[in-house]
Amino acid sequence: MIVDERIVTFINSLDTENSRILEEIEKEAHASDVPVIRREMQSLLKVLLMLQKPMRILEVGTAIGFSALLMSEYAPEGCRITTIENYEKRIPIARSNFARAGKEDVITLIEGDAAEVLEKLEGTYDFIFMDAAKGQYIHYLPHVLRLLPEGGCLVSDNVMQDGDVIQSRFAVERRNRTIHARMREYLYELKHNPLLETAILPLGDGAAISVKQTGARQSEEYQEERIPAQKDGSQAEQAPARQEEQEQHQKTEKEGEKQ
Ligand SMILES: C[S@@+](CC[C@H](N)C(=O)[O-])C[C@H]1O[C@@H](n2cnc3c(N)ncnc32)[C@H](O)[C@@H]1O
Repeated sequence: MIVDERIVTFINSLDTENSRILEEIEKEAHASDVPVIRREMQSLLKVLLMLQKPMRILEVGTAIGFSALLMSEYAPEGCRITTIENYEKRIPIARSNFARAGKEDVITLIEGDAAEVLEKLEGTYDFIFMDAAKGQYIHYLPHVLRLLPEGGCLVSDNVMQDGDVIQSRFAVERRNRTIHARMREYLYELKHNPLLETAILPLGDGAAISVKQTGARQSEEYQEERIPAQKDGSQAEQAPARQEEQEQHQKTEKEGEKQ
């Protein structure tokens, strides 16, 4: 936990309940060790959605659909949500939760690896919620920037890697070093990319809120630097690491479920 536990407990104690369906799904998620956004992130999303009033939301990392359903309750009438998940065990549960909540027409679940799905998505999403494998955020960013219109909002969850991100590489367990390096690169990019204005908050496990700047233009140079796969296929170099990390991620999740 990166924030004093007593502060978190106090803040959360002020919370009012979610809708009955959200309360039920959250309990079911906790009972089966499925990760869902914490209370602090729930509050932040609710406020941001009410400010931003997005009509198209994209979520990377559905799990069993809790956050997508929460967002559907706080987005304006008529808003459509697209959410991406690749863990086959969770997909049917998410679909059944969307049906339980009567939100099948509002939420579209796309099955598959986010990197591949993002590449194929078209149009724009005025609110993007990034909540999948942390080490992949940096690889998703070029697509996120393409899909985000000017004034669009990107929320990235779990950017502090349980506090590891502030440590030196050598203080971090060897198996977490790739994620550590990539998360640092991601945060640097969020803060330095001229297209974005970003606030990084010590909330939950760290949250970054970015807005695509009005008037900003993605330069040719930037495209070449950040989306090599579109030009020369060089993104393939990243594939083994991504594959390895993906397997590690799902192994950890499966082990968590057994406990
Ligand atoms: C933290 S959970 C999402 C929780 C969810 N947003 C909620 O709060 O209800 C992250 C999810 O991302 C999924 N995920 C991880 N890597 C992915 C990838 N490359 N493509 C699609 N989904 C991925 C995992 O299987 C997991 O279910």
